[in-house]
Parts: sequence; structure tokens; C-alpha cells
Amino acid sequence: MPGEDFVVTPWEVRGEVDYEKLVERFGTKRIDAPLLERIRHAAGEVHPMLRRGIFYSHRDLDLILNAHAKKDPWVLYTGRGPSSGIHLGHILPWVFTRWMQERFGATLYFQVTDDEKFLFKDFERLDEATKIGYENILDIIAIGFDPAKTRIFLDTEYIHHLYPVAVQVAKRITFSTAKAVFGFDNANNLGEIFYTAMQSVPCFLASIEQGRPVPALIPCGIDQDPHFRVTRDIAEALGYPKPALVHNKLLPALTGPGSKMSASQPETSIFTTDTAKATRKKVNNAFTGGRASVEEQRRLGANPDVCSVFAYYQYLFEPSDEGLKTVETECRTGARLCGECKEQLLGKILPWMEKHQAAREAARDRVDEFMLRDAPKA
Ligand code: TRP
Repeated sequence: MPGEDFVVTPWEVRGEVDYEKLVERFGTKRIDAPLLERIRHAAGEVHPMLRRGIFYSHRDLDLILNAHAKKDPWVLYTGRGPSSGIHLGHILPWVFTRWMQERFGATLYFQVTDDEKFLFKDFERLDEATKIGYENILDIIAIGFDPAKTRIFLDTEYIHHLYPVAVQVAKRITFSTAKAVFGFDNANNLGEIFYTAMQSVPCFLASIEQGRPVPALIPCGIDQDPHFRVTRDIAEALGYPKPALVHNKLLPALTGPGSKMSASQPETSIFTTDTAKATRKKVNNAFTGGRASVEEQRRLGANPDVCSVFAYYQYLFEPSDEGLKTVETECRTGARLCGECKEQLLGKILPWMEKHQAAREAARDRVDEFMLRDAPKA
């Protein structure tokens, strides 16, 4: 988009994202202090990602809290487009979703969109997307979701169940809406244009299955919001409650501001299957807010605001506010040098990786506990 300083769509994140501006552009609401207090009241605590403004924006989260207070039913819904292996940026909303499930006792629908990643050309062959989907499902299970309350499905395997809802959604969305929201043109294939209908369906599954209005709350990266804007516009016409959303900021790339985490540039992020050696190398090469020399850093201090290493503490690896404050103060005053800060972060990441990798392997035997499919496979 010419004249734009940054771009955020479900398929492209470009430039340095101004998340405050995005709230205005998208027309969402900030999660403010009174709302955080309501969450504390309902959940017994406020997750660090909420306290720190990583989950910072929402649509109708207040209505979900109202429903919860009245003991009315609601469900969680999130998803994964299986384009590649999982990196820590993907994990972020899942960790939060698991906390929500635990604290609120909510059922979770987890959509894996192999169709999407095939249609949007990440793969030559559909079965490649499905295969990566199954690899990703191991990571999803490893996060620790409750199997009794979690329903994972691949679009291509659950389509019989999803399709009647998808066509009802699709009939209400014009091509001109799709063009306006997603910037489609004549070169887009039919599947791409239809796809938003597929991502809308899980918003309504609980209502259909229970035969009463059951709103969905969707924790997701804010880049996914355009899909659900469309879903919200058509929900009531179909007789379903509008889905609610909580949006997270995207984890900064290890390569620094303006760059983007990507599987084709593995140095930009840590992947859950990375070896300890690869992880160590990525962290050691990460972009920081450090000074050119030790002497300068001791004298002037460094800048955590632009530092990808500090972001990893803040987003995922230092849940204690006091601990985070120590890292920040020591950084700003020059008491902490980047090398030791990276080493300390590795002391948190490496054990996490080891645990996750073990849980991921153990998940291979547990897939069927979580999956919804149209018909049992032979
Ligand atoms: N489109 C998402 C992606 O590319 C996958 C997805 C499907 C999703 N349904 C969702 C993400 C709901 C968040 C919430 O990764």
C-alpha cells in the first residue's frame, strides 16, 4: 500500500508495526485497566502477557466476561496455518490460550488450515500441507491443553462437518467485501477468495452443536483480525453470536526491528525442533540494544526497547515482573552486558526447549485423543 509506513494483513506483515495505530486502523479496543481488573476477578490472576500489553487489544471481551459471570456458556477458538515448523512466535498465543482454558474451564476449538496454506501457495501439493499440519499438531498438544476440552481438526479431514456452515457464511460475503478487506484482485484463485468462510466456521460450531447461542473468544495475532471482522458482520444474520477476540502483538524477530520471523530465514526465530547448539547460535547472534563497545555500554547503558533479547524475556521467558524489572534496570544503567544477558536468557530457553521437545515426542501417541475427523481413518 503506497504511502503506508507498515502493512498488517493475514498474509503479510511488512515494515515496523505501530500497534497503537493498528487499534485505530482496525477499529478494535485497547485492553484497559478496568478490563484487566475484571479478568483478575474472574481468573484469580492476570497473565503476564496481559499485564505487559502483549495481549493488548480486543473486541467484545467484556461480553465474554459478562457471560462467564452469569455462567452462560462460551468457548475458545484459535488456529494454525501449517506453512512450516513452529517457532516461538507461534507459541505465544497458544500459551495464553492454555492459560485461558485452565482459568476459565473453557472448551477449545483448534483449527489447522491445511487448505489455506495450499491455496495461498505455500505448497505445491495439498498432502504436504496436511503433513506439516500433523507435525504442528504435536507442538499444539505439547503446550498442555486439556484433552477433554480440546478439539483439534484439519480442514481437509473435517470438511463434511464444516462445509454446511462454510457455504452459509460464503453466501453472505460478496467479492467486493473480500477485495476491500483483503486486497484481492483478478489474479487470486477461487479458493483464496472462499477461504475466509472456512476460518469463520469454528466461531459457530459450539452454537450449532449445543443448539443455543455460545459465543467464541478468539485469542490470535492481530494480523488475523480482518477475517473475523468479516465474520462478525455476518454472524447475526446467520443467527449466531458475533465472535469476540483478544489480539496479541507479534513476537519481534531475533534479527531486529523491521525484520520478520520467517521459516525461510531460520535465524529470525527459534523453532521448537532446533537443537541446543542452533538455539545458542541464534541467541548469540540476536540483535540487541547494546552499544558499540563495553566501555560505552558501562558508561551510557543500553536500550531494551529495541532489543530482541529483552523481548524474549518480556514476551515468554521472565514471568516475574520483579525479575523483568531487574533485567531492564541493569540494561539501562550499563550494569548488564549483552553477552551475559544472552547467556542468562539461554538458561531459560534451553530447559524450556528440552521440555517442549520431550512433550512433543510424547504427543505422537496422543494425537487421536484430540482430533475431530469426519470418519475414522483405516
Ligand atoms: N489463518 C491462520 C494462520 O495462517 C490460521 C487460523 C485459522 C487461525 N483459524 C484461526 C489463527 C483462528 C488464529 C485464530 O496461521
